[in-house]
Amino acid sequence: MKKIFSGVQPTGTVTLGNYIGAFKQFTELQDEYECIFCIVDLHAITMPQDRLELRKTIKSLAALYLAAGIDPEKATLFIQSEVQAHAQAGWMMQCISTIGELERMTQYKDKSAKNTSVSSGLLTYPPLMAADILLYQTDVVPVGDDQKQHIELTRDLAERFNKKFNDVLTIPEIRIPKNGARIMSLQDPAKKMSKSDTNKKGVISLLDDLKTIEKKIKSAVTDSEGIVKFDPENKPGVSNLLTIEAALTNTSIKDLEKKYEGLGYGDFKASVAQAVTDHLAPIQERYNELVNSEELDVILDQGAEKAEALANKTLKKMQNAMGLGRKR
Ligand code: TYM
Repeated sequence: MKKIFSGVQPTGTVTLGNYIGAFKQFTELQDEYECIFCIVDLHAITMPQDRLELRKTIKSLAALYLAAGIDPEKATLFIQSEVQAHAQAGWMMQCISTIGELERMTQYKDKSAKNTSVSSGLLTYPPLMAADILLYQTDVVPVGDDQKQHIELTRDLAERFNKKFNDVLTIPEIRIPKNGARIMSLQDPAKKMSKSDTNKKGVISLLDDLKTIEKKIKSAVTDSEGIVKFDPENKPGVSNLLTIEAALTNTSIKDLEKKYEGLGYGDFKASVAQAVTDHLAPIQERYNELVNSEELDVILDQGAEKAEALANKTLKKMQNAMGLGRKR
């Protein structure tokens, strides 16, 4: 069975962008692939975090994975810092990356430009992400469009490692959803919907109450044309809402355009809001049952144990290939 690996950072609250770009793909893939999903807390600390808040967010994210439909009988769910091999393999990947290639990462450039004090972890984040993926001999990595450059670097690092040392790492493929690879802010559809956006009106959190979600969608920025048509360049707001409805209802954009023929933006937005709240209501209900349950801890303990066994196998091969420690 082919392997899938993906991760989400436990920072802020998960957005509808994360859901459509990542979680939704995860749940669709778990029947066909051996899936490993991670709460990447080591990545979260590349930016300053409040420790109590971080602890809470880690559990909350774990509950959201499950509420979104990850089945722990089929997929492995674990917390990155509970499997030591990630930090170890991350260091090895850093030692085969160059500062130049890491400085070219657009996410590093964006985040470092916005902050006066930048941790070195922010620069070496992509080799850690490569380690996450490569430790599991991953075939496919389902992510949103913003992670493309990091996955390309992961492929380069894996090829470099195999060539330089020994052929031990699988070269992973990226998988991006057809609809919703980049969900945009509802207030500024030129910008990605992001957890860190200060304008919360543009961001739908999976845990926003349903009335708030409806309000946010109804006040989404559109245009003055009054025609519901998919045209991301000239009608980014309308196109973003169409993408959201298409992704959540598994409908084609073409069919949605037909559905809205002759209707105005008021009806359109009401219908998109209905699709989103219908989709999120059962997820929120399940989340509330899970977030403080013992069941959640059991699932995470079992996940860490399974992940550790898999990761250590590759780590040992990597150490032998690089000549670290003694041959065992
Ligand atoms: P993170 O936590 O920023 O985002 C988690 C996932 O959500 C996707 N995403 C979006 N998709 C569509 N529209 C959006 N507006 C949107 N915003 C976010 C992201 O593409 C991602 O798939 N570096 C990663 C975490 C990571 C990882 C990994 C991922 C660490 N190690 C190994 C895959 C494999 C990140 O910061 O994602």
